[in-house]
Amino acid sequence: NKVTFDYSKAANVVGAEEVAAMEKMVETAKEVLVSRTGLGNDFLGWIDLPVNYDKEEFDRIKKAADKIQKDSDVLLVIGIGGSYLGARAAIDFLNHPFYNNLSKENRKTPEIYYVGNNISGAYVKGLAEVIGDRDFSINVISKSGTTTEPAIAFRVFKEMMEEKYGKEEAAKRIYATTDKEKGALKTLATEEGYETFVVPDDVGGRFSVLTAVGLLPIAVSGVSIDKLMEGAASGRELALQAPYAENDALQYAAVRNILHSKGKSVEILADYEPTLHYVAEWWKQLYGESEGKDQKGIYPASVDFTTDLHSLGQFIQDGSRIMFETVLAIEEPKEDVVIKAAENDLDGLNYLAGKGMDFVNKSAMNGTILAHTDGNTPNLMVKIPEQNEFYLGQLFYFFEFACGVSGYLTGVNPFNQPGVESYKKNMFALLGKPGYEEQREELLKRL
Ligand code: PA5
Repeated sequence: NKVTFDYSKAANVVGAEEVAAMEKMVETAKEVLVSRTGLGNDFLGWIDLPVNYDKEEFDRIKKAADKIQKDSDVLLVIGIGGSYLGARAAIDFLNHPFYNNLSKENRKTPEIYYVGNNISGAYVKGLAEVIGDRDFSINVISKSGTTTEPAIAFRVFKEMMEEKYGKEEAAKRIYATTDKEKGALKTLATEEGYETFVVPDDVGGRFSVLTAVGLLPIAVSGVSIDKLMEGAASGRELALQAPYAENDALQYAAVRNILHSKGKSVEILADYEPTLHYVAEWWKQLYGESEGKDQKGIYPASVDFTTDLHSLGQFIQDGSRIMFETVLAIEEPKEDVVIKAAENDLDGLNYLAGKGMDFVNKSAMNGTILAHTDGNTPNLMVKIPEQNEFYLGQLFYFFEFACGVSGYLTGVNPFNQPGVESYKKNMFALLGKPGYEEQREELLKRL
């Protein structure tokens, strides 16, 4: 069993011979990636991460997670973009769907909240109220150490923590994940004596889930980070070794580029399990920031089904024909609920009596795939055998590797994100940050 890519339902739009014809091009893109000779090759640390990571730090992550589990009712994860989405994706996918709402006895690990991923005062105030007078720890995560959103949130919750525990004890409850030497967060952490974890220089934010960035919060939730790494290592093996025709990551990269060349400029990742929502959010950042540049790229979107079949389903079936869909399917569900027979059958559901909700969900999925295919929204599938750490590790690696290859096929540098800076410059100018005086005058005239 493994995470697999299947484009058989899109066979009317993408023929096997077209995929075979891409072999040379895709293998070349793969070669450029693994030989580290392409654009952005100083950000390829993620390729070997599952087999070549800092074991001493890995142990420290487990120890820190253990301490947080013992001394905290709540963990705050402060970070944005690549410094938060991977952790949230894994924690949501691998834990109880109502993780934070379970009683402490049932959950046994701290409640986990994410902050510093928006600039809402209401959110920050609300979160402080949720923590109340309970014990908490903070994992503040920023590779650059200078990002505004997490920096503001950290200032607020650091103060709250120091008021509650005093400076010395607070310092033992704050864990900083950042660059090994650069940035304001590193300076602050050294000055205050926080335990620190490193975001390696050669791993960009959106590829950092398997570094301390993702691993510490994930471990706090009680998930096995050993199994996650094992899964990623097996994903790496498959991506690096499997021949083109059997290489799921390469086939996915090829097929999405074929669809793009046929005018499909939007890829919708569709899930049928609410706990996959943040995996899709993580995926959107991965593909959006990697490919969307130089006026090129496939726009990555996502939907949660069947929820969104009742809102966006109409458009996907019948609106502008600009998209293809990639269904994330979990083959064996974690839980199932059997529908019982009712004596009077007033709701007319007795025809489903004895069937599991998974059967209904899969029928909805299969019916939707065929309907959307008929409506000229080609459907691809990524199948996940089970909802566990191993397969999630494999899935992360599958998407990362396919993304690198796909970026090179698109002809861009998949490992930079120059466009992310534009809004920041304007925001700093409008906020009156020193050094931005001239831009400020210009922008104010335009507002
Ligand atoms: O992929 C990226 O580089 C960005 O989305 C970053 O992850 C995000 O801006 C957070 O940056 P940092 O970790 O430096 O605070």
